[in-house]
Amino acid sequence: MGKMIADLEGYFRKLVRGRDELLLALEQEAREEGIPIVGPLVGQLLGLLVRATGARQVLELGTATGYSAIHLARACRQTGGRLLTLEWDPGLAERAQANLQRAEQNASAEVRIGDALEIIKALNGPWDLIFIDIDKENYLAALPDCRRLLKPGGLLVADNIGFQGAVDFNQAVFQDERWLPVQLLAFLPEHSPERDGLLLALRL
Ligand SMILES: C[S@@+](CC[C@H](N)C(=O)[O-])C[C@H]1O[C@@H](n2cnc3c(N)ncnc32)[C@H](O)[C@@H]1O
Repeated sequence: MGKMIADLEGYFRKLVRGRDELLLALEQEAREEGIPIVGPLVGQLLGLLVRATGARQVLELGTATGYSAIHLARACRQTGGRLLTLEWDPGLAERAQANLQRAEQNASAEVRIGDALEIIKALNGPWDLIFIDIDKENYLAALPDCRRLLKPGGLLVADNIGFQGAVDFNQAVFQDERWLPVQLLAFLPEHSPERDGLLLALRL
């Protein structure tokens, strides 16, 4: 086996592609206000996943200021799809709506205000991709509806699965043979936090 690259984290940090001024401004704002956003790498990964799966019906649980929503909505423009994103804090939802408008993505993206756990109960499927990024203690409660809403072959993505609050959720997905999960421990530059877990799971 050859040698590993020295300072792997510094090396991979430099391999994150640039962003436009709006995304950079939202990253800066998130740092200043302590808003836990996914950061550039996971944002770009979300966009890649939407495009790679050709997802047209995309649901996000946990909008904050709309940073990940912009990545998802831009990818939806490529697939001809739409994004519904759920946020219970009206002030944040309003900021997300304004940011989606600044990104010219408001036509294909809707921000809905309310408790994501309640809203998803009333939704119907099929959805192609669901991204969970709400309070980690509530991931488990969201799981049955995510399964009901996703089409067979649909993709569930969950952020921050390295948090203690996600332990029951991680175990539930791991044990349930109706999911095909990959639970990654990853270095995620500018993600909050940079060393965290990420779940990708196919709904079988
Ligand atoms: C980690 S932040 C989302 C970050 C966003 N996905 C991004 O990367 O730009 C989590 C957000 O979910 C919201 N939230 C937490 N629990 C929620 C729930 N049950 N229903 C709706 N929103 C919730 C919080 O108010 C917060 O804005």
